[in-house]
Amino acid sequence: MTDDDATIILPAVTDGGARDDTAVFARVEDVKHALIELDGVGMTYPGPPPVEALKPVALRVEDGEYVAIVGPSGSGKSTLLNLLGLLDAPTEGTYWLDGHDTSKMKEARRTQLRADKIGFIFQAFHLMAHRTATENVAMSLVYQGVPRRKRRQVAREKLELVGLGHRLDALPTTLSGGERQRVAIARALAAEPSLLLCDEPTGNLDSQTADAVLATIDELHAAGLTILMITHDHDVAERAQRAVTIRDGRLREGNHLHDDSPHAPTDRATAVMPTVP
Ligand SMILES: Nc1ncnc2c1ncn2[C@@H]1O[C@H](COP(=O)(O)OP(=O)(O)OP(=O)(O)O)[C@@H](O)[C@H]1O
Ligand SMILES: [Mg+2]
Repeated sequence: MTDDDATIILPAVTDGGARDDTAVFARVEDVKHALIELDGVGMTYPGPPPVEALKPVALRVEDGEYVAIVGPSGSGKSTLLNLLGLLDAPTEGTYWLDGHDTSKMKEARRTQLRADKIGFIFQAFHLMAHRTATENVAMSLVYQGVPRRKRRQVAREKLELVGLGHRLDALPTTLSGGERQRVAIARALAAEPSLLLCDEPTGNLDSQTADAVLATIDELHAAGLTILMITHDHDVAERAQRAVTIRDGRLREGNHLHDDSPHAPTDRATAVMPTVP
């Protein structure tokens, strides 16, 4: 890598992923690393009365980072996760996901990008009760058009990856809470996402089980997955490389969850911790 490498220019990637030589040129370092980039992204629920759940914010998450979003109840965490997960569209601002400007996308393209790039884990496991662990994971690939045999093979691989290779045919009702959340993690990984979005994934687990689930998430991060962890739990946030606090719909770099001082509002939360090798 020479100093010159950073100044190589590439044609910007357009919405459809095709190269567009007439597009504005972007520096390699700009398009290479940012998996998530929010610029002035805000969300106002229409109401009535309207609720400004997310004030216009900036946020940048590099490829391979593990970021915790911490904040009290009602601060806007799920609102932010729904926007980042392309489950909702912001009412203002621009969201780039892996270099794609999602704000101009049609719904079908957003759905496709979500399926390609994002895995979700929630507090509730949302497993199908009458399907085995393997079937629960395999079902997530039906809409991707993956053939049945391949779906089952991927499901088995992902369940083995999260330590459930011995429970492939178990029904969710016969699994412990921690094991159920592992099935949900395996399901989130089935389509090889770049980003794992987690909304309080250990909220329903006792502390020992939670710890084991978090250790699995640590391993996924070590293997290169970008993790965004929403939590109000200090211990959970501690495991991330970097924390961003959300309060009253505003973001602030660092974990200020237990600060007694008044929240200093800022619309920028862009500082990036060095990646630990
Ligand atoms: N669909 C909606 N319509 C109107 N207001 C909403 C809607 N969804 C959320 N809100 C409001 O937006 C604010 C942020 O809600 P959000 O669910 O993002 O909070 P949260 O940080 O995830 O809270 P919790 O920790 O309790 O899950 C709250 O004031 C909430 O009442
Ligand atoms: Mg929430």
